[in-house]
Amino acid sequence: MQNVDIRAATPSDLAFLVDMLVEAVNWLPERDWSRERILADPALAHYVTGWMRPDDVGVVAVKPAGQPVGAAWLRHLTAADPGYGYVSDDVPELTIGVVESWRGRGVGRMLLRAARDAARARGIPRVSLSVERANFAAKLYAAEGFRTIESFENADTMVTDIRA
Ligand SMILES: CC(C)(COP(=O)(O)OP(=O)(O)OC[C@H]1O[C@@H](n2cnc3c(N)ncnc32)[C@H](O)[C@@H]1OP(=O)(O)O)[C@@H](O)C(=O)NCCC(=O)NCCS
Repeated sequence: MQNVDIRAATPSDLAFLVDMLVEAVNWLPERDWSRERILADPALAHYVTGWMRPDDVGVVAVKPAGQPVGAAWLRHLTAADPGYGYVSDDVPELTIGVVESWRGRGVGRMLLRAARDAARARGIPRVSLSVERANFAAKLYAAEGFRTIESFENADTMVTDIRA
């Protein structure tokens, strides 16, 4: 895509990843959770707490001058502290967000593909995620190879096998 590059995430991306976690939580316009509320909720904060751990994998979409416009990252959560899309300890869960003014231009799809490639390079066999069914992002995930393996009242857990 023109004018957006993808780079690997680094420890100094924490604040931007929190920004994107806030976007992911607030995908519904009528949901307006503050950064503080999200970081105070252990079920959400654990997607970014202590970033970056040795087994974290992330990619950031940046403008030519380096400003980030989106990010996708994978975090290994455990049975003792599972995420919404938990499948097993060896399957990291994906979080993705794009800055609002940059949505609908292909950045999300680029990030998904880059995250998959980065995970594959690390030998990660599968990636999971949780998506609220009403979010159009679910269709994007399906188009990029994720399939639903478990359904809850409003959300689906999706998984993709990324072994080459
Ligand atoms: C979900 C998200 C990461 C997708 O990134 P994006 O850059 O907007 O997506 P893309 O431009 O790559 O679009 C991917 C596909 O979705 C479609 N799409 C984009 N915005 C859409 C919208 N508002 N409604 C319906 N479809 C949409 C595009 O048409 C495209 O499909 P196509 O290539 O077949 O036309 C981004 O919109 C976002 O950050 N949303 C808020 C946070 C969120 O929902 N995170 C995920 C939580 S599970």
